Amino acid sequence: MFSRDTYVGRRQHLKKSISKGLLLFLGNEETGMNYADNTYHFRQDSTFLYYFGLDKAGFAAVIDVESGEEWIVGDEITMDDIIWAGPQPTLRDQAERVGVAQILPKSALEAKIKGSLSNGRDVHFLPPYRPEHTFKLHKWTDWSVTEIPQKASREFIQAVINQRSYKTDEEIIELNKAVNITGQMHLNAIRATHAGKYEYEVAGMVHGTARSGGGDLAYPIILSVDGQTLHNHYHGNVLTSGRLVMGDFGAETATHYAGDITRTWPVDKTFTQQQKEIYQIVLDANINVINALRPDVKYLDCHLIAWRTIAEGLKNMGLLNGDVDEMVELGVPGLFMPHGVGHMMGMDVHDMENLGEEYIGYREGITRSSILGLKSLRLAKELEAGFVLTVEPGLYFIPELIQLWETQGKFEQFIDYTKLKPYFGFGGVRIEDNYLITTNGAQLLGDPIPKTIAEIEGLR
Ligand code: GLY
Ligand code: MN
Ligand code: MN
Repeated sequence: MFSRDTYVGRRQHLKKSISKGLLLFLGNEETGMNYADNTYHFRQDSTFLYYFGLDKAGFAAVIDVESGEEWIVGDEITMDDIIWAGPQPTLRDQAERVGVAQILPKSALEAKIKGSLSNGRDVHFLPPYRPEHTFKLHKWTDWSVTEIPQKASREFIQAVINQRSYKTDEEIIELNKAVNITGQMHLNAIRATHAGKYEYEVAGMVHGTARSGGGDLAYPIILSVDGQTLHNHYHGNVLTSGRLVMGDFGAETATHYAGDITRTWPVDKTFTQQQKEIYQIVLDANINVINALRPDVKYLDCHLIAWRTIAEGLKNMGLLNGDVDEMVELGVPGLFMPHGVGHMMGMDVHDMENLGEEYIGYREGITRSSILGLKSLRLAKELEAGFVLTVEPGLYFIPELIQLWETQGKFEQFIDYTKLKPYFGFGGVRIEDNYLITTNGAQLLGDPIPKTIAEIEGLR
């Protein structure tokens, strides 16, 4: 948790960006896994954490923009709570800890919202992503469950994005910590890899490293020899000689700042020649994008730098033929890199994604493309100092996709489908790093994590 001044200052800034009305913040609740009392790992809502810092289930908060008043909404703990979960500070103590002067019982929130709406006041809320919040909003307003997402306040969304997009020095310290724990997860995973082990043995150990950093996972572990499946959460394969392992996993700190790193390494101690050739293309793409990072560069153009590097590399190998610029323009590299080159990162691994990617990553004049790969680009607009983002080019051989395009005769003037057949069991390579955009360039977050072929082989 940061100091009281941090939370007070963030809310002061927010109040100045909203013209009128009430701001409603819904903290998260515990969620039952298989019955109500057997809950999933609790994760507080990031915007609630950003403005109010309280990392416990069952809170909400209200700000009256006109009067400047603020309330933490919650219930005092009972003796039963103390018996089962231990003593807790009072609600008032918790509110004071983050500089909020007033508290309100949960039972009074409905009347406060309904009263404000019936007096013609605006009640701003953010798009809910948990069903219980949608139901609460439905109960407190006249809007149907299906109307609620459209009723989220554009002004509130934009104001939050305008603050959370620019990381402060104390946030950068946390992000560096997160990436360093994440780096340790990767070193442990690479060193623990041996032919004959199951993926889940390595994944379980990696989860332990995240926990031992004081926080937990920032997102579910991706660790598989089937790296061609972009978000592969299945860990039941045996690590077999001759295959690559793709590991995309990261920790979040106790304060909930995320790291998001991908490394790809061989099951054996060394890469095969075929693996080296593909790996080097992805590494070149990663480095070319990193070298382009600075304010005012469109991240869309960075995506195209990655695609261009991949198209050039595959052309040099004879898998593609033709003009590289034309291939990039038409979207040919989408066959091999069907995802975006990166995204904002912060308290959420895909930072603020619940507020709407169109607001976070796009702006008027930059609209999302429908081309495979570009349609998944989460950040396309110009970079600015203070942004934290991922650089994560990848190159995959997805047999089902290649076969579909071949059947359709798609881009057959550029793609030598026959030469792609020997890569059907290859898997994929992704190399992902995390950067802060500075006033004149970019700064790596965390200590460097081995990524050249020699560095990766040197770990074994
Ligand atoms: N960890 C998921 C991603 O890289 O976006
Ligand atoms: Mn990742
Ligand atoms: Mn990522």
